[in-house]
Amino acid sequence: MEPIGLVEWHSDYESGIAEIDEQHKHIIETLNKLYYAVQDNRIEQEVNTLIEELDFYTSAHFALEEGYARKYGFPEFDELKKSHNFFRNTYLEMRSHYHYRQVNPESLNSLYIRDYPGQYALQLLSVMNGWFVFHINTIDRALFSFLRDRL
Ligand SMILES: [Fe+2]
Repeated sequence: MEPIGLVEWHSDYESGIAEIDEQHKHIIETLNKLYYAVQDNRIEQEVNTLIEELDFYTSAHFALEEGYARKYGFPEFDELKKSHNFFRNTYLEMRSHYHYRQVNPESLNSLYIRDYPGQYALQLLSVMNGWFVFHINTIDRALFSFLRDRL
C-alpha cells in the first residue's frame, strides 16, 4: 500500500476569512493526529476521542460555510452540502466500524475491517485527506471567491 502522507497547510488554501482558515487548520491537525494514532497503534483506544474532535471542528466549519452560502445565495449550495456530507459520513463510518469491531466483531461483514483495522483506518484516512485537498481546491475556492465581493 502506498504510504499516505500527512495533510499540510498551504497558503493558497487561504479563504480570506480568518475563522474559516482556523477551522481548516484544526481539521488538518486532527486528520494528522488520526494518522499518527494509526502509525503508533493507538487508533483503537483513541478513535472515539479523535473522531469527536474532528466532528467538533468539522460541524462548526460546515455550519459556517453553509450559513454564508445560504445567506448570499451561493449557486452551488447543493454541491457544497453534498461534499460536506460525504466527509462527515466517512468519519462517522470509521467510528461506527470501530465500535462494532469492539462490541460485536462477528457482525462486521467485512473481514478486512475486522482483522486489519489499521489498514482500514489508513484507507479511510487517505479518502479523507484526498477529500480535504480536493474540496478546498474546488468547491471551497468557488465559495470564497463568490463571497469575496459580498462580505
Ligand atoms: Fe471548508
